Amino acid sequence: MCGIVGYIGHREAYPIILKGLKRLEYRGYDSAGIALFDGTDIKLSKTKGKVDDLQAKLEKEIPTNGNLGIGHTRWATHGVPNDVNSHPHYSNSGNLVIIHNGIIENYESLKKELSKRGYTFKSDTDTEVLVNLIEDVKKNENTKLGKAVQIALNQVVGAYAIAVFDKNKPNEIVVARLGSPLAIGIGDDEFFIASDASPFIEYTKNAIYLEDEEMAVVRRNKGVKVRKIKDDSLVDPYVQELQLNLEQIEKGGYDHFMLKEIYEQPSAILDTFRGRMLPNEGIIKMAGIEDNMKTFLNANRIIVVACGTSWHAGLVSEYIFEDLARIPVEVEYASEFRYRNPVITDKDVVIAISQSGETADTLAAIKLAKSRGAFVFGVCNVVGSSIARETHAGAYTHAGPEIGVASTKAFTTQITVLTLIALRLARAKGTISSSEFRHHMIELELIPEKVKRALDSDAYVKTVADIYKNAKNFLYLGRGYNFPVALEGALKLKEISYIHAEGYPAAEMKHGPIALIDENMPIVVIATKKGHYEKVVSNIQEIKSRKGKIIGIVTEGDEQVRELADHVIEVPETIESLTPLLTTIPLQLLSYHIALMLGKNVDQPRNLAKAVTVE
Ligand code: AGP
Ligand code: GLU
Repeated sequence: MCGIVGYIGHREAYPIILKGLKRLEYRGYDSAGIALFDGTDIKLSKTKGKVDDLQAKLEKEIPTNGNLGIGHTRWATHGVPNDVNSHPHYSNSGNLVIIHNGIIENYESLKKELSKRGYTFKSDTDTEVLVNLIEDVKKNENTKLGKAVQIALNQVVGAYAIAVFDKNKPNEIVVARLGSPLAIGIGDDEFFIASDASPFIEYTKNAIYLEDEEMAVVRRNKGVKVRKIKDDSLVDPYVQELQLNLEQIEKGGYDHFMLKEIYEQPSAILDTFRGRMLPNEGIIKMAGIEDNMKTFLNANRIIVVACGTSWHAGLVSEYIFEDLARIPVEVEYASEFRYRNPVITDKDVVIAISQSGETADTLAAIKLAKSRGAFVFGVCNVVGSSIARETHAGAYTHAGPEIGVASTKAFTTQITVLTLIALRLARAKGTISSSEFRHHMIELELIPEKVKRALDSDAYVKTVADIYKNAKNFLYLGRGYNFPVALEGALKLKEISYIHAEGYPAAEMKHGPIALIDENMPIVVIATKKGHYEKVVSNIQEIKSRKGKIIGIVTEGDEQVRELADHVIEVPETIESLTPLLTTIPLQLLSYHIALMLGKNVDQPRNLAKAVTVE
């Protein structure tokens, strides 16, 4: 995800676009750029770094006059953050210039075809392929930009919110959206394009939010024409009058970034497997794995190194890798691993998991592993981060920026990436059949919708939060795949509400923690139908007999736990290995609501930082 801004009208475009990018930086901030049309030609400046860095560079590099322009603040998915990969991107002729939020899944095949036709590419991005595809269609069909965009996008698979203009037709901007947001601000004979309304809310409250598979030609003096990308048919757009203020817009209308990011998980999970998992073709393809398949298959074991929530995702992966791919896994706290003089050989594969890609302990663990000959694979959310650059190979989660200190969508997208890797290795090793492989992919493809359904419990979770917000201690219990989720749920509560909470394997309770249980102790028990259900029910009965207050996380339609627990929160059914992606949702919501009711700073809890770059 990133931020796109465009302007066409009677004002100077530059100040509007620059300020708009600053407001969108929360959406992505590894590089930025602006292209302006000064009346005769396109002037473009772009750079790695923040919007402030762009301003400093641009104002030295190019004139800032012109009342047509587009700007972009990037969250890289294809091509590391650097000047060349920053947006906007020119077409080969230099006539067209584009900005893009999203992922063009089939960019490689398009790039191959365009290269055969003589197109060259300066950057590693999927976006530069798109602008040259539009140019190629425009040339071959001898058509206007709008029509060329419509034809080109019908050849594209993926997600996009784009804005593109032609220097030879500087009275219009063409925009389109599929899967990434795009708003058009309607002013008094001036128009604004943006990922959300924050760049133009002070100029106009009238906006059109394009729907998926819609495009628009925004013309000076003529207005906005919205069409369906599929068949070019006209659409009568709904112009809404915005009521949101600036701060609400940055948070997508949510009260906090954490809640916004909890609700972004369906799209974040989808974006993470998009283009990597093709159930119909029965394939999973991830360059970092394909290029190192032998290393993975010959590995004696996988060592996962991570911290905090990422460590919990790593613990889920231990169950997945061993269950599906039969590869021995050990999961290490990076901070312990780096100091305990571990036995590491060149037959080890280390997987380093980190949302920020900057966690000092994880980075140090990677360097230690590399120094002893291990192959190190990174799972990061920030492209070009220190850990992403230090590892031999990797796969990014495409969660988009995670601003809330309490990690939510990073956790579920990390599990998604690790599941894809485990499935790919299991298939290569033959430890699962092709039908099991396909079944897992089909189930994973259903997860975004099931996460949406799990989010429907939000209002009920809030009522449970209100009952237990003053508890001094919580226990979180889970078995199998859901033991790491119990740990993660406890961490979420601790770090934003400051209530002490502990996660345990449910069976471990009788080895001590059960002494803690009385009528003042809320116990969250993950008791989904898949995974030792009967055993967990027995644990619930043990708790009940000691008057513990039981909050059960259950599979939709469960009646047995409902009979025993004080509260049950339902999640949709799925296969056992994917239950963590669903059972974590109510636990994220529970911690959010309790912290809020206690008046805590949910997005920036005390004593914590989003990236722990110190040891
Ligand atoms: C999780 O909610 C915390 N913010 C923290 O435990 C975090 O997961 C940990 O610091 C690791 O960060 P990383 O994923 O960026 O490496
Ligand atoms: N996929 C494009 C790139 O990597 C756009 C990423 C974004 O949404 O910022 O440049």
